[in-house]
Amino acid sequence: MSRTFDKKVVLVTGGASGIGRATAIAFAKLGAAVVVADADAQRGPEVAHYITSGLGEQSLFVSVDVTDPDSVQNMVESTVSRFGRLDCAFNNAGVPDKASSLRVSDQANWERVMSVNLEGVWHCMKAELDHMLAAGGGAIVNNASRSGLVGVPSDGIYGAAKHGVIGLTKAAAVEFASSAIRVNAVCPGLVETALTQARFGDELVSRSRQANPLGRMAQPEEIAEAVVWLCSDAASFVVGVALPVDGGATAR
Ligand SMILES: NC(=O)c1ccc[n+]([C@@H]2O[C@H](COP(=O)([O-])OP(=O)(O)OC[C@H]3O[C@@H](n4cnc5c(N)ncnc54)[C@H](O)[C@@H]3O)[C@@H](O)[C@H]2O)c1
Repeated sequence: MSRTFDKKVVLVTGGASGIGRATAIAFAKLGAAVVVADADAQRGPEVAHYITSGLGEQSLFVSVDVTDPDSVQNMVESTVSRFGRLDCAFNNAGVPDKASSLRVSDQANWERVMSVNLEGVWHCMKAELDHMLAAGGGAIVNNASRSGLVGVPSDGIYGAAKHGVIGLTKAAAVEFASSAIRVNAVCPGLVETALTQARFGDELVSRSRQANPLGRMAQPEEIAEAVVWLCSDAASFVVGVALPVDGGATAR
């Protein structure tokens, strides 16, 4: 296997579970030192332990709440203090919408979804960009969603946050491209994770059959592949895209 990320340091928020966990492992398999950052202090360390013990790569768990700018600052400082650099970041931590329609969403749902899924990405980008600017370059991928590209009725508030993530991504991409920092977003369709299980429960399997032309959910590893590519030198001319990885859902 080519070790494309040898000597690179990668930070993954929401790395304890689902897409973040799969992406942390995918980077480690390509030789990166990986910081697994998450609010989940139980499963996060388990992922870091798997990377060090199971894969033989360097890893560190950092407890973070992406809604808190001081906590996010500490996450980036801990990364740089332990590994000396930060080359790539995947801003992925997120929570599902709890409302079936924006008409019935309450204020608490709005605030939770916006603060984690949108403001959290902004906090992370600020801290990461400060470091990458000083270091002379880097790559950032934000996790948006298909709901950031099209209107999904059951994802009114979540979709607004994810459209915002794409807006932040494009603005940062344009502002920092000349500083050798590439910023892009990935837009997954339905992926089999704890988040979709919590959101759709027993409906998940039937929903997945209609979700896209492939007629199935993605596995988290299929999203991880796109994130790794966007962070790699193979994507050196890819700047400011919102890449659907959705089995063709947005194509129809
Ligand atoms: N699963 C899907 O179908 C799907 C589709 C499109 C986009 N996404 C996006 O992918 C990302 C990951 O979702 P997933 O499906 O892997 O979910 P998941 O629930 O498996 O993982 C989300 C992780 O984020 C962490 N997290 C939540 N709030 C946090 C906070 N405030 N600070 C730090 N960490 C926090 C959780 O502890 C968890 O480990 C989310 O941004 C989600 O919106 C998921």
